[in-house]
Amino acid sequence: MNKKNTLKKIKALALNIDHNIAFKGKSKGNKHLMRVVRVAEFLAQKTGADQFITTAGAFLHDTALPSGNDYNYLQNKKIVKRLLKTFHLNQNELDSIAECVASHEGTVKPKTLEAKIVHDADVLEKAGLLGIIRHTWKLTNSGKINHNMVKDEDVKKVLDHIVWRSKRLQTPMAKKIQKYVTVSIDRRRAKVIVSLTAGMAFKGIITEKIAVAIRKHLTKQQNKKLKEQLSLSYFSRFK
Ligand SMILES: [Fe+2]
Ligand SMILES: [Fe+2]
Repeated sequence: MNKKNTLKKIKALALNIDHNIAFKGKSKGNKHLMRVVRVAEFLAQKTGADQFITTAGAFLHDTALPSGNDYNYLQNKKIVKRLLKTFHLNQNELDSIAECVASHEGTVKPKTLEAKIVHDADVLEKAGLLGIIRHTWKLTNSGKINHNMVKDEDVKKVLDHIVWRSKRLQTPMAKKIQKYVTVSIDRRRAKVIVSLTAGMAFKGIITEKIAVAIRKHLTKQQNKKLKEQLSLSYFSRFK
């Protein structure tokens, strides 16, 4: 099988897991994987990373989500290797893709350029307003935030995670983008956003729709940056 066809199959497999299996299908239709792939390809172009490994790793990075935990380096590797068993990849390709998947949550320092890029592309989804929405979504649907009663410590958990991840960024370009998409948000507004997001996340409303629904609670600047994060229109600023 040529690489183009292999990537097509990988894309179908990854989207099926993300939309139909992870979180019992609650995030069906969300565009996270497509954005991560586009950001990873953008970063790969800038750094000369292997395009095939980067794209495959980006598509597959969240494949451990149905297990309820995608933070475990070894388990992430095991799961993706099992999924790719019938894909006729050579050992080197298999190991390189699995490396990208294994360290994407920043719990272990990424070892290869491609793994650094997949990691950074995922961190950019956990930056700025998009990061607040997405991490609240994950915590709510992992039972770690009670959508009926969002507390100050939940808001702190979300905001702290975003800072924790930004500190692990690996590539200079991703660091620049992270700075650009980051917006200041006061605790009171953050609590409103986390509360509204948690309520919608629990009902299975996807990121992109939540972003529209919370628009009126954001400043002009916050809305502008969030829009750029969702559309990736900021690419043109980092040519
Ligand atoms: Fe993840
Ligand atoms: Fe992800």
